[in-house]
This record gives sequence, C-alpha cells and structure tokens, in this order.
Amino acid sequence: MSNLFITKPLSQLMDESKTDHGLRRSLSAFNLTTLGIGAVIGAGIFVLTGQAAAQYAGPAIVISFLISGFACLFAGLCYAEFASMIPISGSAYTYAYATMGEFVAWIIGWDLILEYLFAASTVSVGWSGYVVSFLKDFGLVIPAQFTAALGSIMVDVPQIGWKLATPELTKSLSDSGIAIASLPHLTGILNLPAMFVVAAITILLLIGIRESARFNNVMVVIKVFVILLFIGIGFMFVNKANWHPFIPKNTGVWGHYGWSGIFRGAAVIFFAYIGFDAVSTAAQEAKNPKRDMPIGILGSLGISTLLYILVAIVLTGIVSYTFLNVADPIAVGVNAMGSGLFWLRPIIKIAAIAGLSSVILVMLMGQPRIFFSMSKDGLLPPVFSKVHSRFKTPYVSTLITGFVALILAGILPINILGELVSIGTLLAFAIVCIGIIILRVKKPDIPRPFKTPWVPLIPILGAGICILQMLSLPWETWARLIIWMAIGFVIYFTYGIRKSKLQNRKL
Ligand code: ALA
Repeated sequence: MSNLFITKPLSQLMDESKTDHGLRRSLSAFNLTTLGIGAVIGAGIFVLTGQAAAQYAGPAIVISFLISGFACLFAGLCYAEFASMIPISGSAYTYAYATMGEFVAWIIGWDLILEYLFAASTVSVGWSGYVVSFLKDFGLVIPAQFTAALGSIMVDVPQIGWKLATPELTKSLSDSGIAIASLPHLTGILNLPAMFVVAAITILLLIGIRESARFNNVMVVIKVFVILLFIGIGFMFVNKANWHPFIPKNTGVWGHYGWSGIFRGAAVIFFAYIGFDAVSTAAQEAKNPKRDMPIGILGSLGISTLLYILVAIVLTGIVSYTFLNVADPIAVGVNAMGSGLFWLRPIIKIAAIAGLSSVILVMLMGQPRIFFSMSKDGLLPPVFSKVHSRFKTPYVSTLITGFVALILAGILPINILGELVSIGTLLAFAIVCIGIIILRVKKPDIPRPFKTPWVPLIPILGAGICILQMLSLPWETWARLIIWMAIGFVIYFTYGIRKSKLQNRKL
C-alpha cells in the first residue's frame, strides 16, 4: 500500500548532499549572488514598471515595490533556512519532500515547471521585443509575422510599426481618432527571435555550469552598471512636480490608483522579484552551500529590491507616470532627459537584452536541476538525471527543458505565460513558508545554519501575502493552474507513485 505522505528522512538528504552526484561544485557566494541577480532583474523592471505605474499606482509604484519586496523577503528568509539546512538541488521540491510528504513534493515539483520553464519562455518573448526594436534602429527588419505568437493579430501603427493588437492599443488608437480595423493587419506565425535565444542559451548550459556562470556574470555586470548609470544621471533630471500627487486619487474603480492601485501594482510587479529562489536549485554545485546559500538568496533579493526602488523613484520623477504605459518605460525616461542623452538610448536597450538573457539562462538552468532531483527519487524516469561525462551537466533534462521552452516561446503570447509564472511561483512560495513551520515543530533539533527570525509570524505573513496575491489573479489563470495540476496528478498516479524509490524502499 503506497503512502502519499511519506517523507524523505533528513539524514538521507544530508547523505545525498555529500555523495558524488556527478555535478561540479564550482559556485562561490559571489557566483550565487550574481546568479540570483541574473534571474531577478529582467522583464519586470525593463517592461512592467512603467505599465504598473501608469495604469494602477502612479508614483506610488515605489510603495508597490516595497510591499512586493517584503512578501518576497519573508519567503526568501524561509528559502534561506531550508537551503542552508538541506543543500540539495531540488529547491522547494526537496524541502516539501522532507516536510509534507511525497505527494505535496510532487505537486510542488510539477508546479515549479510553471515558474522556471514557463518564465524562461515568457522572458524570451520580452527579449524578442527588445531585439526586434534594437535591430530596427540599425535598419534590420524581421518580418512581423515571425516575431509574434501563433495566431496573434498584429497591426501596422503609423510612425511606430507593427504592434500586437491588444485592447490597450485599440483604446489608445481610438482616443487619437484612429479605428484599429482601418490599419493593415497580419497574423503571427512564430516568434523566431524568442526561439533563437532559448536554443542558444540551452547550448551554453549543455557545455558547462562554469561557462554558464561566467556568461551570467558578464550579463549581470552590464545590466547593473547601466541601471546605476540610469539612476545616477536620472536623478539630475528629476522634476519634483511629477511626484505630485504621489498617490493619485482612486478613480472609483478598485485597483485604479489610490491604495487599491498600490496593491494591484504590487501584484503585477511581483513578477519582477521572481528568480531569487533559483539560487537554491544550484545547491549541489555550490562550494559551501550551508553558508553561501542564504548569502546568495538574500543578497540578490536585497540588491535587486534596492535597485528597483531607486529606478521607480527616478523614473516617475523624470516623466509623468501617465506617459509610461509602454513596453520600454526606461527608454521613455531617457528620451525625457533631452537630446543630449540620446547616446544612452541604445545602451539601455543593450542592458535590457543582456538582463533578459541572464534571466532566461538562470531559469533554464534551474529547471533541469529540479528534474534531476525528481528523477533521482524515482518520480521521473532515470534519463532525467543523466549527467554528461565530459561537461558534467544534466544534459538530457537540459535538452528536454530547452526544447519545450522553445516551443512555448514560439507559439504563446507573453501575458498568458507571465500570469502562469506568477501563480505557480506564488504557490511554491506559500508551500515553502508553511514547510518551515512544519519542520520547526516536527524536527526542532536539527542544525539550522540559517534560521528564519520570528517563526511562525514571518512564514505566516509570507504564505498569507502570497495567497492573497494569487487570489488577485484572473480566474482564467486559476483554470490553467488547475488543468496543469490535473495533468501532474495523472502522471504521478500512473508513474511516480509506482516508481518512487522511497515507496519501494530503495532509497
Ligand atoms: N524577475 C524576472 C524578470 O523580471 C523573472 O524578468
């Protein structure tokens, strides 16, 4: 008789973390922190900030960043405790296996695919947008039907070029007296640049963890340097009048400015924080995971939060928030600094492209390592934990991840992908927070190199805020999550439960 709630003994996890698993231990605390920053700073700041400020919070988007940052800090503290205690590369999946049992672990492992694999696809669609626009500045035009999701409708907007026909675009055109139906249309076939970047990064990941970490470091240096440049120069162009009113008056509709707008803005820009937990997937490749995991997780979260808040302050100070509802708000900020700073415009685009590349890299790196752990436990077929003899990377699961992410990036639109990523990540964070409380009660005495303060208050607040944010997402996203989970249940009950090494006492 199988036991759905069988837990993996901690002693066994510790032993596994010490045995030779084939992966190379080469990441330092610095590498882990840049890995976290690599995964965090991306589409959220380069794309979403402006939209959230313009539509929901106004200059008070700064407060939205603080709220979302606190929710992530609570979850981050819980991750740090687990990651220092159980330095195995499965992330939240492994933590759940040790605390809530195999079935919950499977649920979370399956759910993490939404966070990592789907985030890689989402961000590669954002990458494609920036690359297409960058190439266009140099006269290189990629046919529009090969830059958009399958079946999506694009329109040729005068002076601007091909854009996705979103309800917002329809409205802003009709506000300027243009009927969208009167413009030339075409239907998207595939997003080729998005597929290209996923393929290129997958190849890099196959070659090696050290090479990937090096590439990531370079991308992180570029994006952080340019963001600091933007903040430094931008401060000189702030017009304080743009911060008044700091919290625009609510229009009477929930979420449209005022405090409800601040909360809605916080839920939207939550996406910007996703990724710090990816550090925990590299535990088995860290030189000193017990000490360095908390540094990597909390360090990258802290640095990213600080940069986000500064960018939000400067951006809403340079331009009125009402002009920021665009795909490239930072570029709009640079334009507002005047023609003397035109040289900064291509640099911002390069930083965005570098930034988004590193997010894709870390997500595509985290996913195979979760598959690796699940496969080692018997819940996925053994091929998922095959390590390449020369490159020392989990090459089969890296290839499978890259292939699926490439297809999704090619055919799905960014909004569907992005909301799935948010709901999946929030669920994972909530389970990790609850797991901390359970383990403190069940195993109070095991050594915890890093301890979450104020347990159970911090985990309860962390889980509570995550659940509230999940509730604010549209019902379609919930429906997709439920269908995704149903597929996961079928796989578990037809494969995982029968092959589980723990159930079969083979571990
Ligand atoms: N936090 C990551 C980004 O904003 C997912 O792109």
